[in-house]
Amino acid sequence: MRTLREIPALREALADVRRRGERIALVPTMGNLHDGHLALVGAARERAEVVIATIFVNPLQFGAGEDLDAYPRTLEADQASLEAAGCDLLFAPEVATVYPRPLADQTRIVVPGVTEGLCGAARPGHFDGVSTIVGMLFNLVQPDLACFGEKDYQQLAVIRRLVADLHFPIEILGVPIVRAEDGLALSSRNGYLSAEERAKAPRLYRTLCELRDTLEGGGDIQTTLAEGSRRLHDAGFVPDYLELRAADLAPVTAATREAVLLVAARLGSTRLIDNLTLTLPR
Ligand code: PAF
Repeated sequence: MRTLREIPALREALADVRRRGERIALVPTMGNLHDGHLALVGAARERAEVVIATIFVNPLQFGAGEDLDAYPRTLEADQASLEAAGCDLLFAPEVATVYPRPLADQTRIVVPGVTEGLCGAARPGHFDGVSTIVGMLFNLVQPDLACFGEKDYQQLAVIRRLVADLHFPIEILGVPIVRAEDGLALSSRNGYLSAEERAKAPRLYRTLCELRDTLEGGGDIQTTLAEGSRRLHDAGFVPDYLELRAADLAPVTAATREAVLLVAARLGSTRLIDNLTLTLPR
């Protein structure tokens, strides 16, 4: 696997791939890779001749007071994992390569609608930063396919909208959440949890499973969500949101069948997110 740090080198490598007429899959990441990321690489590997991963801790998607500086940077270990997972090329640029101008002057992609509420409410500007870097990577790499984890459910919906609205000829593949044995969704931020918090953390997913069972059994939505928030509080979480939306993130109506429970909650200073799809009864 080659690691490229500069845009001209990336373009040159891609020109070779295109000359060979090979299908390209892109796996954008912020590094500190875990099995969830490697599942993205695996999905990409099955669907394309050339797999390109990117590692870039994108300052544009971090708000003031968020963990940009503390975000774990583990390039050497990530390179080894990507190579073992069958990745062909890694693009790992410096911030100054991606954003040569001050961030305030950076052209941005803003996706309306689907970015509102949920994580968009708690993290203003976050999805503009995600859309901008993902749109830029799509433009640089021009992949046939790009893989994203379903853990970031709203992010995936934002990227699907971005691709539709800007007519990128790119297939977006959502890859199912990879969980630890105790149910905790894998995330680079799990590394921030103390041993005591890590032991409590699976309660988040267990609560989602309990709520799903109640809702699929015909439980009242508002009562069930209120009960879920209470259980999370009791378990030591500070919920940021716990919502039921239609699978496309539209508000739930009487006609909604395919739905998704979405949660963000703080455990100590760590913000965890998770989600679970379900089918509402008729
Ligand atoms: O999901 C992530 O790791 C990031 O938001 C992404 C898509 C790589 C953009 O920086």
